[in-house]
Amino acid sequence: MSRLIVISNRVSVPKAAGAAGAQGGLAIALNSALREHRGIWFGWSGQETEEFTGHLDMQRNEGVTTATIDLEPQDIDEYYNGYANRTLWPLFHYRIDLTEYDRSFGEGYERVNARFADSVTPLIEPDDLVWVHDYHLLPIGSMLRQKGVKNRMGLFLHTPWPPTRLLVSLPFHERLVGSMLEFDVIGFQTEEWLGSFLHYVEKEMGLDINEDGTIDYRGRKIVARAFPIGIDYTEFVEGAKSDEAREAHDHLKASVRGRKMLIGVDRLDYSKGLGERFESFGRFLTDNPDQASKVVLLQIAPPSRGDVASYQQIREDLERKTGHINGAHADVAFVPIRYVNRGYPRRQLAGFYRAADIGLVTPLRDGMNLVAKEYVAAQDPEDPGVLILSQFAGAALQLTDALLVNPHSIEHVSETIKLALEMPLAERRRRHEKLLASVRDEDVVHWRDEFVKALFGKDGEGARDEAA
Ligand code: G6P
Repeated sequence: MSRLIVISNRVSVPKAAGAAGAQGGLAIALNSALREHRGIWFGWSGQETEEFTGHLDMQRNEGVTTATIDLEPQDIDEYYNGYANRTLWPLFHYRIDLTEYDRSFGEGYERVNARFADSVTPLIEPDDLVWVHDYHLLPIGSMLRQKGVKNRMGLFLHTPWPPTRLLVSLPFHERLVGSMLEFDVIGFQTEEWLGSFLHYVEKEMGLDINEDGTIDYRGRKIVARAFPIGIDYTEFVEGAKSDEAREAHDHLKASVRGRKMLIGVDRLDYSKGLGERFESFGRFLTDNPDQASKVVLLQIAPPSRGDVASYQQIREDLERKTGHINGAHADVAFVPIRYVNRGYPRRQLAGFYRAADIGLVTPLRDGMNLVAKEYVAAQDPEDPGVLILSQFAGAALQLTDALLVNPHSIEHVSETIKLALEMPLAERRRRHEKLLASVRDEDVVHWRDEFVKALFGKDGEGARDEAA
């Protein structure tokens, strides 16, 4: 079996089940993928160094070998805070109003991608499959090719891919997308993002898309496909049965004293639609005054990318909105919104999800959204909660039995909250059964197997043909 070399910006050293961890989809999915394949997970340590040396820190934990490098402060500023999170992230989430185009960001992005390529190349053996993740590393494939790496290489993008009309606002967009075509497989979360990518490739690059969806480029065939990511269903359901999950469930249930509960769990990010969510909940309380003392919204929102101004802004906005809504609707014995700026271990989260009558997942734009899938997996099938899901999350294409909403419409979300609270048990069960089948069948193992199969190529050859 070929080894897998995973390359991503962040490397999450696997932790024992139940240990605290990031909510980011990447970390959750890859720990599970790497456990089964021998290989190495390479990326940034998250640490700063005065001067970049290229020193690799190799470690082995829970069956996964990790290799990390430290980056210089200027690298972190221009590459991570800059091009990745002030340019590409907002642009890929359709927020050109927040997108910053600074030439130094682009230079830093290329410099760090080159540093990644230099450091990882010695680790790659001829038969290895190379699997690159996310928007931080779009040009690394072409840099690895320049260094003579001939292995099969794939890229999976965890975010949306923007429509061509937005993407062309990015200076040097042709160069960026052109560099991606050095990969053999390019994976997206949904058909929608794939469609936008193929549209760009056809309209802006003048390339033909074959009937089977492949792209012919400089004598090679590139596979571009949708691979919707899932959760580690088995692990999550196991965790949901743990004592830790049960205690978290009971503790939270007791604290709401018979009130119905809505839950949201998101990184504190403007793409998650938290402001609109709070306003919708506020509207629900205003329109249904009899309900004000009977419902509570628990929003867990660990802070993220705090060095970027738009993230500082969204944090302030949410603090103001929470204060405003709580001030207007609280009474001496209750507050309607519990707003918590910290993360929780996954098992505790499973308990919280199960305790909640409604899962409120309303991003304005999201590549997939695994919280929606975790919420479904954590429910009691006999008495399940209701998932309210944004039509703009990638997950909406699979979880069609959720109550799908337009998160921009405060009225629509508010009315849907009412509908969910009143939904009869039979309908809750019927919807949950279908949602659960999708979450269980299209899990992270399925996702990984599909991607790795595509990466292998039809003939099962790990390495590229010299002549190709
Ligand atoms: C999203 C991205 C991931 C990223 C995660 C956490 O899920 O797709 O690549 O790791 O957010 O963001 P952070 O900036 O903290 O790594």
